[in-house]
Amino acid sequence: MSSVQSNTSSNIPFEVFADAEAASAALARVMCERINANAATGKQTVLGLATGSTPIKLYQNLIRLCKNGAVSFKDVTTFNLDEYLGLAGDHPRSYRRFMDENFFDHIDIDKARTHVPSGLVSKEEAAAQCAEYEEQILRAGGLHMQVLGIGRNGHIGFNEPGSRADSRTRLLELNGITRADAANDFGGLENVPTHAITMGIATILQAKEIFLLAWGKGKSEIIAKALSTAPTSDIPATFLRSHPNVRAYIDEAAASVLQAPVRP
Ligand code: GLP
Repeated sequence: MSSVQSNTSSNIPFEVFADAEAASAALARVMCERINANAATGKQTVLGLATGSTPIKLYQNLIRLCKNGAVSFKDVTTFNLDEYLGLAGDHPRSYRRFMDENFFDHIDIDKARTHVPSGLVSKEEAAAQCAEYEEQILRAGGLHMQVLGIGRNGHIGFNEPGSRADSRTRLLELNGITRADAANDFGGLENVPTHAITMGIATILQAKEIFLLAWGKGKSEIIAKALSTAPTSDIPATFLRSHPNVRAYIDEAAASVLQAPVRP
């Protein structure tokens, strides 16, 4: 069971679920309803997708619904948030590979309609590629739904602290916390890329609907700050507050600080 919260400690509506599985299953159903409603009127759906451990259960639920025949991704186009600079699409830690293995290879989507920024551009070429990515999103008709995780420092995509509300898809330098959090995956901090390409805050905010996901105790401090702090570049996720149709899906562990009783 979930409970919809709209208390004064949060300016972004959020819903608390018993665990990540329950939240992911609920969000998967919402996304399928939207995709099916669009398909019923002959419209495609454009999804903005995220990587990291957070959306894995969401993808598993969507795969299950697709295999059950409850939804088809034949008329779905996707754009991922980000990619590490320097990694080829088949690199084990690339976000392209992550998406293929955790989602695209298991659904009926046309791979040509799945977009992940290329990590194989020079710093000089990056600006042109980023502008083209923005164009591709516009040509597809804009993002209908954007799925987001949150970094421990409040980043969304790879929009690190310091990112501006009007930022667009661009190359940026990764923050120390972000690189440290990725060190295990890369077998040591020295192997973690120093730069990445990410959709900007303004790119994300152009989505019609945004879902922010957070699970586990490790995310409890940052999600509480993200949901209740006035918009600031110090915590990029706070910029979501200005969006008219954003909702956070949180499990009980991640909600523990947000819902802690206020001491007199
Ligand atoms: C990376 C990704 C983000 C993601 C974050 C949190 O930095 N670029 O999109 O939200 O990690 O990852 P996790 O979901 O594993 O906690």
